[in-house]
Amino acid sequence: MSGRQTSRFRKEPDPRFWRFNRSIEFDWRLAPYDIDQSQAHARGLRGIGVLSEEELTLIVDGLERVRERLTTPGFQFADGDEDVHMAVERLLGEEIGPLAGKLHTGRSRNDQVATDVAMVVQAHGLRAVELLGAVMGRLLAQAEAHRDWPMPGYTHLQRAQPVYLGHHLLAYFWMLARDVLRFQFALDSASVMPLGSGALAGVNWEIDREAVAAELGFDQVSHNSIDGASNRDFVLDYLNAAAIASMHLSRLGSEIVIWSSTEFGFCRLDESFSSGSSIMPQKMNPDSAELLRAKSPRVAAGYATLIGAMHALPLTYGKDMQEDKEPLFDAIDTIELSLEVTDGMLAGVSFDRERLEAASGDEMLAATEVADLLVRHGVPFREAHGIVGGLVREAVERELSLSDLTPAELKRHSEHLDESFYEVLQRSSWLESKRIAGGTGSVPLAAQLEAARGALGAVEARVREAQA
Ligand code: ARG
Repeated sequence: MSGRQTSRFRKEPDPRFWRFNRSIEFDWRLAPYDIDQSQAHARGLRGIGVLSEEELTLIVDGLERVRERLTTPGFQFADGDEDVHMAVERLLGEEIGPLAGKLHTGRSRNDQVATDVAMVVQAHGLRAVELLGAVMGRLLAQAEAHRDWPMPGYTHLQRAQPVYLGHHLLAYFWMLARDVLRFQFALDSASVMPLGSGALAGVNWEIDREAVAAELGFDQVSHNSIDGASNRDFVLDYLNAAAIASMHLSRLGSEIVIWSSTEFGFCRLDESFSSGSSIMPQKMNPDSAELLRAKSPRVAAGYATLIGAMHALPLTYGKDMQEDKEPLFDAIDTIELSLEVTDGMLAGVSFDRERLEAASGDEMLAATEVADLLVRHGVPFREAHGIVGGLVREAVERELSLSDLTPAELKRHSEHLDESFYEVLQRSSWLESKRIAGGTGSVPLAAQLEAARGALGAVEARVREAQA
């Protein structure tokens, strides 16, 4: 049943152990990377004379046929295939005979698998940056379109201070800009090629590692074979970036769920990103946003799974490390689809200007403005905070708005409260008074939009450069 590789064993593996130990069920996804790597390794072997020119051609062409077979619909691995690396070698043997056995010269599955996985992180790290750039573009466009729409800002999900919707949406833009940095870090950490580390000590063949690395798109080769064979930091770096990005999307999803409720009525998702109810004909549910919210913990769990598997693991390779792949693949699938959905969802979301404005017109949101007015009269902020707290309590108890309080009533709270109190309660001033850099006022907001355009341009340029 099994494809035991050596004559060291007399016994077949126990079927239970075999199922436990084999990774082909999930590592088949490494196949295209494994084939690319094997072709580059074969050229490296040619360079030191282990393969003749003719043998190299047979191996490279044979690997191309293996690639085609693997992508043919209905292709099935054999029961005896332990992992993708053994399977590719077996299939190459079917194509070119015993010559296939020369391919594994100067290579161990330990440096082979580390190299394949680093290639996956490079490909999908770049894809994540590209998708993040697309979502950042959507956020920026929506922010531009809603740069002067007031809405209530919240803390503790209690109305706090008004902000412009454009300013709120740009908060997500900057979160995703940091996600780009984290994925770029993962890309850098995966750009060091482990191949050549062998099982752990290096190999007996002086293959030109730099040439192999250049062919496979790595920037450098690892300096230490022990580290090369045992390093999975680049997977953790990808998972960390994906976990944080996914957490960001969960916060956006959560806000959209709340905002699209009838109670808030701040926004509506396009029908194409909503679902109906099987029983209530009137329902249009924000399932896309709810799933963004709920997908996030599985990515974080992937990080926890792998850091758990690696923790306290003696150098170098341990089979524990085979557990790197499922969390990585699941994170790749989850974050990529989440970003694609976010992009589509944001393209079609519409906001309700009147609902947002009505909610942001609540005079209580001006409490901090009144406190600052007192500060301008020389009252220490803490004291002003207390005075305004008293005003708010009186208004709430008498079921009045702040502006219903008469000048005489104001004087009872503070001698400094004069007509400017009523001016401060004019709504637009609460937003425009936030003139500080990074504030919601339209002057700093214009500067922020400008900065965001620059940041997005840099992300897009980086993707174009990497794809060229
Ligand atoms: N399937 C293995 C993995 O993913 C490949 C490396 C096997 N190496 C070994 N020494 N058994 O980790």
